[in-house]
Amino acid sequence: MSLNLEDIFLQEEDIPDEYALHEQIDQREYLSNGEMKAWNGPVNEVFSPICVKTKDGLQRKRIGSFPVCTEKESQEALDAAVAAYDNGRGQWPTMSVADRITCVENFTHKMIEQKDIVVKLIMWEIGKSYTDSVKEFDRTVEYIYATIDALKDIDRQSSGFTIEQGIIAQIRRSPLGVVLCMGPFNYPLNETFTTLIPALIMGNTLLFKPPKHGTLLHYPLLEAFRSSFPQGVVNTIYGRGNNIVPGLMQSGKINVLTLIGSSRVADELKKLHPKVNRLRAILGLDAKNAAIITKDADLDLAVSETLLGALSFNGQRCTAIKIVYVHRSLAQEFLKRLSAEVAKLKYGMPWEKGVALTPLPEVGKPAYLESCIADAIANGAKVVNEHGGETLESFVYPAIVYPVNHAMKLYREEQFGPIIPVVPFDDLEEPIEYLIGSPHGQQVSIFSNNASVVSSLIDPLVNQVSRVNINCQCQRGPDVFPFTGRKDSAEGTLSVVDALRSFSIRSLVATKFTDSNKKLFNEIVSENESNFLSTKYIF
Ligand code: G3H
Repeated sequence: MSLNLEDIFLQEEDIPDEYALHEQIDQREYLSNGEMKAWNGPVNEVFSPICVKTKDGLQRKRIGSFPVCTEKESQEALDAAVAAYDNGRGQWPTMSVADRITCVENFTHKMIEQKDIVVKLIMWEIGKSYTDSVKEFDRTVEYIYATIDALKDIDRQSSGFTIEQGIIAQIRRSPLGVVLCMGPFNYPLNETFTTLIPALIMGNTLLFKPPKHGTLLHYPLLEAFRSSFPQGVVNTIYGRGNNIVPGLMQSGKINVLTLIGSSRVADELKKLHPKVNRLRAILGLDAKNAAIITKDADLDLAVSETLLGALSFNGQRCTAIKIVYVHRSLAQEFLKRLSAEVAKLKYGMPWEKGVALTPLPEVGKPAYLESCIADAIANGAKVVNEHGGETLESFVYPAIVYPVNHAMKLYREEQFGPIIPVVPFDDLEEPIEYLIGSPHGQQVSIFSNNASVVSSLIDPLVNQVSRVNINCQCQRGPDVFPFTGRKDSAEGTLSVVDALRSFSIRSLVATKFTDSNKKLFNEIVSENESNFLSTKYIF
């Protein structure tokens, strides 16, 4: 097979019109305290992972720029969120659930109007294929509607009273306060919104920092946020994370930190909060999910699922399979078939039909991946597939590396890119011990058709990770399933319903079941005097 990486990049004029960004997006405003505030300070230039051929060689295409604000603007945004929450007395935290749902529905209609530009920006900012960028947008909209339905269910269940031991109570879920929300670059819209939307709809107020790669795609949505929610409920912060975020945490005014990113950053930020018991953290962090291919596995299935699991979006998924344990008796055949399947993957520009492998957004990533491969080779491994690891600018061709051992970076580090480290094993205890010793605990995939082998792995592994996949790749979806992890992989649980719980706390109003209290409660309920103590039913 020949690999001509030069040919994947085009000249500017050859980019199909349908997918071209006709104008650069130079964002000079941000949403804070209900206003789109003008920004005249420094900006961050955004260069796409998609390079274009120029007379000076390949160059990442410039697609726009966004504000690099300072601590001053982020503190103002914090003040706005604190004021909008107003110790739980603000318009938003006290609004009825039905009215909050209406605001989120309005926002979603306006968001859908921006679909074309948001999808294009996902593709241009992070190099995700056009098809997957559309899927990310649609999955996010479905997630919002599922969240609304789940909240209606919760609210219906809470609209009655509970009578126990002579006490009558109404139990509902209440907001927590000000939420600092930061999403990841690999699902810059979807994963950000799977925390932002539940946090918002439960009545919290927000500070939202878009991901470093995947910032511009949020710009077309800011007006929808501004016009759909009361002043100060959604505020954006732009700037270098290490300049603007520590001060927010040190203020002690952040009640919830929600971050999909690295455990190192989450650790550092949590420790900055002066009242750690007042901080709730909902975190999706590092992972190094393993596939375990036993000698009873259906090898074709193991190959096709490993391929998907390890290389979808070039391996840049927190749920990606990042290490493969294969029984030594199958190792050579597995490597041969996996290499053949990798060779069939289409590589190229994100808009090409059927493309699977695309350029990587992080500027330092190709060099990092190269260093992982060099380190593995120095410690006795080889790249077993043709062209594995070949790189041109932002594009890295997938590398299958074998045999990987504990001396190598690829054994422990989360490569988050297109490298498939493969470890041969003789005894099932070896992958089990690997998972026990791992700092991560998100998911695992077991490949075997032998019921007793599968059972012998399920029982130890459900206590090491949070999802054991049998004969299939690791993944987050369906979004109604709990998504969490052990050790350094997560804190809290996300799913459509769990996220609503994570961003709220139960509060109850209780009284002794006496005639005078019955009369009092009846009066409050029939006069609709309280949004909390209410029997209104959302249809
Ligand atoms: O990056 C981590 C994502 O949550 C993975 O989601 O398994 O649906 O690709 P996914």
